[in-house]
Amino acid sequence: MQDDVKKLIFSVFALFILVIVVWVGFVFFSGCGLSLNCEKGARIPERTPIPTLIPAALPVMQLSAEQPKVTCQIASVDLIGAWVSAGYSETEAFEFTDITGQSCTASFKNDVQPLLLEGNIWFTGAPACTTCHNATLNQETAGMDLSTYEGMLAGSRRTSADVMGNDIFGGGTWEASLLYKMLYLEKKMPQGRPEDSPAEGPIIFAGSAQAAE
Ligand code: HEC
Repeated sequence: MQDDVKKLIFSVFALFILVIVVWVGFVFFSGCGLSLNCEKGARIPERTPIPTLIPAALPVMQLSAEQPKVTCQIASVDLIGAWVSAGYSETEAFEFTDITGQSCTASFKNDVQPLLLEGNIWFTGAPACTTCHNATLNQETAGMDLSTYEGMLAGSRRTSADVMGNDIFGGGTWEASLLYKMLYLEKKMPQGRPEDSPAEGPIIFAGSAQAAE
């Protein structure tokens, strides 16, 4: 009876030792493998958590066969003149030769109208033409609405919205037009234009070059 108890205690003790040895062995083996120098115990080199080699997952850029469009440059008065001489259409593109001699096309909406609607173009601090010439048809500002194409066609010195005024396009002859007179000959517009500003107005980017044949 006493022997049985001793045996039990001994085997429990032996099992305990065995489990400890196996456990320590397992930990050592998983950390150091079969070598004794235990390289896995070395410090892990510090690496940036951001992957530096980004996989090239974007689609390859396709170059189109079409030539990229080149923007042209021209003096603002010359651009308006080219448009008027070409018949001042609201929608049809018109042609002009830019300051570098390129053949270019432009349109009223994209190229001419911004010269009337936007400030700061003709000189630094310049008001937009439409600051004065708008649908209110003031007598003091020549009764002219430059804010829309229809307003421009209706002309100047109008007393109300339903009367036609003076043609500002010179019937299509640029040099005979009121616009030419005010913008170029008298250099009056936009009102407040400095003495030393160029008569032909600032050089602007407009239209695009026609593809060379
Ligand atoms: C600060 C106000 C003001 C601005 C901005 C202005 N104008 Fe005028 N505009 C006038 C006044 C005032 C007159 C009348 C002056 C006169 O008869 O000498 C006039 C007259 C004109 C006339 C002649 C009309 C006529 O029947 O005699 C034209 C054309 C004209 N402006 C075009 C323009 C254009 C184009 C712009 C923009 C580039 C412009 N104006 C900007 C005030 C302005």
